[in-house]
Amino acid sequence: MEIRLFFALFVISLSLTSAQRPNIVFIVADDLGWNDLGFRNPDMKTPNIDQLATEGIIFENAYVQPLCSPSRAAFMSGMYPFHTGMQHSTIYPYQAVCVPLNYTFMPQELKKLGYATHMIGKWHLGFCKWECTPTYRGFDTFFGYYTAFEDHFNHSTGQYLDYRDNRLPARNYSGEYSAFTFAQRAVDIIHRHNVSQPLFMYLPYQNVHAPIQVPKRYEDMYPNVNNNGRRTYCGMVSALDEAVGNVTQALRDRGLFDNTLILFTSDNGGPIEGYANNWPLRGGKHTIWEGGTRGISFMHGVGLQKTRTTYDGMIHAVDWKPTLISAAGGIPESTIDGMSHWDSIRNGLPSSRTEFIYNIDDFEVPIEGHAGIRVGDYKLILGYPGGPDGWHRPMNSTHYETYEQTVYLKGDSPVHLFNIRVDPTEHNDLAQKMPDMVAKLRARFEEYKKTMVPANFPDPDPASDPRKFGDVWSPGWC
Ligand SMILES: *[C@@H]1O[C@H](CO)[C@@H](O)[C@H](O)[C@H]1NC(C)=O
Ligand SMILES: *[C@@H]1O[C@H](CO)[C@@H](O)[C@H](O)[C@H]1NC(C)=O
Ligand SMILES: *[C@@H]1O[C@H](CO)[C@@H](O)[C@H](O)[C@H]1NC(C)=O
Ligand SMILES: *[C@@H]1O[C@H](CO)[C@@H](O)[C@H](O)[C@H]1NC(C)=O
Ligand SMILES: *[C@@H]1O[C@H](CO)[C@@H](O)[C@H](O)[C@H]1NC(C)=O
Ligand SMILES: *[C@@H]1O[C@H](CO)[C@@H](O)[C@H](O)[C@H]1NC(C)=O
Repeated sequence: MEIRLFFALFVISLSLTSAQRPNIVFIVADDLGWNDLGFRNPDMKTPNIDQLATEGIIFENAYVQPLCSPSRAAFMSGMYPFHTGMQHSTIYPYQAVCVPLNYTFMPQELKKLGYATHMIGKWHLGFCKWECTPTYRGFDTFFGYYTAFEDHFNHSTGQYLDYRDNRLPARNYSGEYSAFTFAQRAVDIIHRHNVSQPLFMYLPYQNVHAPIQVPKRYEDMYPNVNNNGRRTYCGMVSALDEAVGNVTQALRDRGLFDNTLILFTSDNGGPIEGYANNWPLRGGKHTIWEGGTRGISFMHGVGLQKTRTTYDGMIHAVDWKPTLISAAGGIPESTIDGMSHWDSIRNGLPSSRTEFIYNIDDFEVPIEGHAGIRVGDYKLILGYPGGPDGWHRPMNSTHYETYEQTVYLKGDSPVHLFNIRVDPTEHNDLAQKMPDMVAKLRARFEEYKKTMVPANFPDPDPASDPRKFGDVWSPGWC
């Protein structure tokens, strides 16, 4: 009797907790610029995303890393890339690298809370052995690709297929644009989902990363854009918007939407040389200027107190893991770099983050440099910030616009200081005027640097050759 009662209570409390946990949809838009969605730039046609953003809370100061793998490693692990060896460049398909396996990934934590976990889209966190891949790092299912990019239609990276349905190569999607395939898979999963479990869906879309490709009808939505590349890019953004709309519609159809929390972010600033746009911010992808590191980002849905439209507290990519774990009713790990902002965001309180590292990368010192720190209002950049530099409006001329690259020579060690609160577009370099502030931030930077793990950036490994794996980029060679 007592045992039966205990068991009944146990089952009830278990199902209650599960029912109360929000579904979480984490959408990453690849290489999307700060100025590339309709809520910031009225030339962009993104009604579905704009509605989510304006009904939700738009983040004005949510930072990411300047490149794909480092940001994604931070999202999944809650660790700064310079603590996991992921701070230099990105993972190339022929490198025997993945995010160290002793770090727990976001879906592993969510599984402990009872979530069903699905991933659709780009991984880019290493695949040289199965243990590195999504279904071994917390995802129940995976559909997508392992490398940085692939052809949106034939799904190959170089000459070899990189498209997978769980563990198996997905060879029969040739000719089908990835955004459609990914949205359709997400919709199917939502329809099949057993609602007695909370749902976590990680949707790192391929759009709008190069190659710049989209079915013509999306491109045709932008007759007022004169530049061919920019017009295609804009079409890719609108295809992304439609894909997001299809997923939210499926959540509505299934009755899940009202209990769903959506986090949307880019992984890095838009590549301005690749038709993206970050106006009025400085620089873009590859750089630690604000244009490369301030993500276009918002949250929508259950649990947010909708009394404001924006949140300007300081957030870093490492914070999303603990923030979503908190939103799910869990307790974030205390050993990670990230901190939860769930209570601050939902109640509009100041951020408890007061500083962060943009990057620490001394792999190719001093030419690469690529180091920066933010403390309070101030930002210090040490060494080469990456390029191209400058402030650019969306490309709109019939020819390709080229951007000047600053050339740094070995031995150069430029230092830049900005007050980001008053000068978010980084026009007014204070390094000469405020040597004490430079010294203060540099000292703090050096503290962090003591904890750096060397970048894991090995030479190409011939064992990666896809010809040994049926012409498919595959695990099994490290
Ligand atoms: C993971 O392993 C690395 C290398 O051995 C070590 O430096 C790091 O502290 C470990 N991290 C965790 C969370 O266990
Ligand atoms: C896929 O398309 C790309 C062009 O984007 C081309 O270079 C590549 O050869 C194609 N791959 C295959 C396997 O047809
Ligand atoms: C590809 O094959 C899989 C497995 O047979 C099937 O589930 C899927 O519907 C197919 N997709 C297309 C586009 O034919
Ligand atoms: C969205 O759904 C509609 C209706 O099913 C479909 O025609 C369209 O191709 C889908 N778009 C994307 C991007 O998946
Ligand atoms: C959903 O999951 C619950 C709990 O695990 C189970 O009892 C139920 O049979 C499942 N429903 C379906 C349709 O599979
Ligand atoms: C591009 O320039 C043309 C003038 O050449 C202008 O009519 C059009 O509005 C511009 N498009 C955008 C998106 O600014």
